Amino acid sequence: METMVRWCAAKRIRIEPYGLDIVPELAALARSRLPQWSERIFVGNALTWMAPIRFDFVPTNLEYVPPHRGRDLVETADAGHRCRGRAPHRRRHGNADPSGPGLDDIVRGWGFSIAGAVDRPHRIRVNEVHHVLWIDAPARTMA
Ligand SMILES: C[S@@+](CC[C@H](N)C(=O)[O-])C[C@H]1O[C@@H](n2cnc3c(N)ncnc32)[C@H](O)[C@@H]1O
Repeated sequence: METMVRWCAAKRIRIEPYGLDIVPELAALARSRLPQWSERIFVGNALTWMAPIRFDFVPTNLEYVPPHRGRDLVETADAGHRCRGRAPHRRRHGNADPSGPGLDDIVRGWGFSIAGAVDRPHRIRVNEVHHVLWIDAPARTMA
């Protein structure tokens, strides 16, 4: 939450961050460090958590769920009742089998259209890159 606010501010974008963690102790630690945001730090599993509001932007990481639940996580982050707008999904790719499908192909194979992607070299592990892709949620009509 802190870094996202800082990174966005550097680009003159103001955001209101919310946080979710599956480990209650980590959420409690975050609340104690960031009392100004304590009401918006939640405990839950990203796969099943029902957000109290809609978000414009949902960063998540496929490493947070078992490989066979990756599609469910993207669907959850992308679903209209949970969020709308752009949903980037991060994954570190370093030791992936280079002959296998890339992350973009895997996510496309799940039926999502990828709006954009970027690679950034890992700062320490020279053979690794961070791969970020994002998906624009479909526009939704108000009920
Ligand atoms: C790499 S840390 C990120 C910590 C911090 N949010 C940040 O971005 O710097 C990943 C966090 O995700 C939490 N996590 C892992 N799987 C999760 C899941 N399925 N649902 C919610 N949180 C999860 C872990 O407990 C851990 O605190």
